[in-house]
Amino acid sequence: MKRPRVHRMVLAMCVGSFIVVIFYFQTNLKPVQGNGHTRGLGKSGRSPLQTLYDSDLVEPSAAQLMHQGRRELLEEACRSYTRKRRVLIPEDLKHMIVDDQHGLLYCYVPKVACTNWKRVLMVLTGESGGVRDPLQIPANEAHIPGNLRTLSEYSTSEINHRLRRYLKFLFVREPFERLVSAYRNKFTRSYNTAFHKRYGTKIIRRHRPDPSPEALERGDDVSFSEFVHYLVDPSTQREEPFNEHWERVHSLCHPCLIHYDVVGKYETLAEDSGYVLKLAGVDGEVSFPASGKSTHTTGDMAATFFRDISPTYQKRLYNLYRMDFLLFNYSMPEYLNFR
Ligand SMILES: *[C@@H]1O[C@H](CO)[C@@H](O)[C@H](O)[C@H]1NC(C)=O
Repeated sequence: MKRPRVHRMVLAMCVGSFIVVIFYFQTNLKPVQGNGHTRGLGKSGRSPLQTLYDSDLVEPSAAQLMHQGRRELLEEACRSYTRKRRVLIPEDLKHMIVDDQHGLLYCYVPKVACTNWKRVLMVLTGESGGVRDPLQIPANEAHIPGNLRTLSEYSTSEINHRLRRYLKFLFVREPFERLVSAYRNKFTRSYNTAFHKRYGTKIIRRHRPDPSPEALERGDDVSFSEFVHYLVDPSTQREEPFNEHWERVHSLCHPCLIHYDVVGKYETLAEDSGYVLKLAGVDGEVSFPASGKSTHTTGDMAATFFRDISPTYQKRLYNLYRMDFLLFNYSMPEYLNFR
């Protein structure tokens, strides 16, 4: 079934070539002073973006220096490891959530606290129905498309304006921890029947020798090893893009085309979230939910899952996620045993 993919590509190319050409200039030299029609101004009258880069001029805090280090590392890695630059099209911006009130653009990455960030943004944009505590918003409500606006819904000039003026941020996580987290959440929980039907049955059909009729029907007992085989099989991505839960951050958020101002990390979620809220001038209004879960995936846990994966497949999987390791300064995990 290659047709739909070809059609989609042709469509994307047409759209890309003669309608939408999005240019925007780097904002980290000198942010433009806010003027009358610029929304996204905090109480101080400055946008989060101005707050970020203006304060760089004074004595930078440890947090500011660290974030500057992350930005520079990302930029350098983009220069070293990506060859062709291309122009952004609205399709690329489907994961970019817009907060026009505060001047924020957040690229959400599933399995990296995105539910909580969406909840916080619902509070900030007034989509929470007056609720001020993010945790009062049910998780499924945070994920309803349409509760929050994405940048892809705006016109080209509106997109360019926001890319230049707003604070752009994302949160990343050690790629294999994120992957194991996605696997555990989508394939080992009995309630996730939609994923079992949609992906599990396909994975079992293709990657399990002699599957039982029941397994083929239910798709609810995919092993991590079968999941890995599915990911590294070239025909998987030829058919359709990866599901967002295991798609690479590089493909979801385009960090070499969009110059993110803050690269938050799951490993330092509380500090980095606090930093963004402070830049937005809303640290007194809303606080980022503290992570309460003790079941979340750790590096040690990821290591145990990788014991079942042969060195050849470890290597293929690493190559698949390589950009996410390089761009965000994650080193190759010690537990891998190919060299
Ligand atoms: C990159 O990672 C190394 C090792 O964890 C760390 O020492 C260094 O500070 C990081 N660099 C940046 C810019 O975050």
